[in-house]
Amino acid sequence: MKAVLLTKHGGPEVLSYGEAPDPTAGPGEVVVDIHAASVNAADYKVRLGSARSTLQFPYILGRDFSGVVSAVGPGVTDLAVGDAVFGVCDQGVEGAYAEKIAIKAAIIAKKPDRLGHAEAAAMALTGLTALWALEDTAQLKAGETILIQGGAGGVAGFGIQLAKHLGATVITTASANNHDYVRSLGADRVIDYNAEDFTKAVADCDVVFDTVGGDVQIRSYAVLKPGGRLVWIAAAPEGSQPPRSDVKVLRPGVARDRKHLERIVELLDAGAVWPPNLIRYKLTDAAEAHRVSESRHLRGKLVFEVR
Ligand SMILES: NC(=O)c1ccc[n+]([C@@H]2O[C@H](COP(=O)([O-])OP(=O)(O)OC[C@H]3O[C@@H](n4cnc5c(N)ncnc54)[C@H](OP(=O)(O)O)[C@@H]3O)[C@@H](O)[C@H]2O)c1
Repeated sequence: MKAVLLTKHGGPEVLSYGEAPDPTAGPGEVVVDIHAASVNAADYKVRLGSARSTLQFPYILGRDFSGVVSAVGPGVTDLAVGDAVFGVCDQGVEGAYAEKIAIKAAIIAKKPDRLGHAEAAAMALTGLTALWALEDTAQLKAGETILIQGGAGGVAGFGIQLAKHLGATVITTASANNHDYVRSLGADRVIDYNAEDFTKAVADCDVVFDTVGGDVQIRSYAVLKPGGRLVWIAAAPEGSQPPRSDVKVLRPGVARDRKHLERIVELLDAGAVWPPNLIRYKLTDAAEAHRVSESRHLRGKLVFEVR
């Protein structure tokens, strides 16, 4: 099969398009012929070598995908060859920038017909992460106010839609050229973080969802009410400590399972969430997609259309 190969750690140019062995379905696994895979911010971090230093090269990046089951391993009874599915690789496992992947059947779900493969791939890890962060971890409730940092990004975009559906008032930060986009996702109020200090513009939030990290996370404490919750998926500066002890600091585990993927489908059916803005690439354009991802100013999701 063809795949994007990471040959060593480094800049986007270390990604090359080439041959990799076809995967086979072990017990409890299926092989999926990938139609679309998404680019997540984690991918460029792994490429640069910041996540793990023990990769076996050539290494295949990519955490989420959508495609069609082409082989079924022993013990799999709930999926069959020909089923359209989408999913997220198990924690610590990657390999979706490829024409095929072997994956545990139990952690993928059937793709609804009305959702294209690119759209499904784009909503898999982002949806899973936002669900774990806002429903399972922060336990966001109707009537609460949430500030979502980085609203135009992949996870935050799903988060805005989900928070709105749960009945929260949603404030988000975005560059001016993304304000119409985040409003279209349901944001009640948008702060241009380049022009306005969000710590002066917002106060008394029940929840902050930080998808930006760094200094933004440290400054976010200022907008929480006593007893508020800060849930984060992008790290604060190394060695920094939470500046308040009267709020909860939470990091979602983001376990992979079918239940959360089916929750994404349920939310789609309810009209509560819909696909993000998509920027489409071919696998041969992986270096360019990584340049855009690493710039940290994309709108929505970057996806590879694989076949
Ligand atoms: N399991 C997990 O824990 C998990 C899962 C998924 C992602 N993550 C992490 O979560 C983070 C977000 O991931 P993602 O894929 O959603 O990111 P992304 O789609 O790459 O998000 C980039 C977005 O951030 C916005 N942005 C950049 N700087 C900002 C700032 N100072 N204030 C407000 N917005 C800003 C940009 O919008 P503008 O152009 O408007 O600035 C852009 O839309 C990454 O660090 C990723 O590694 C963790």
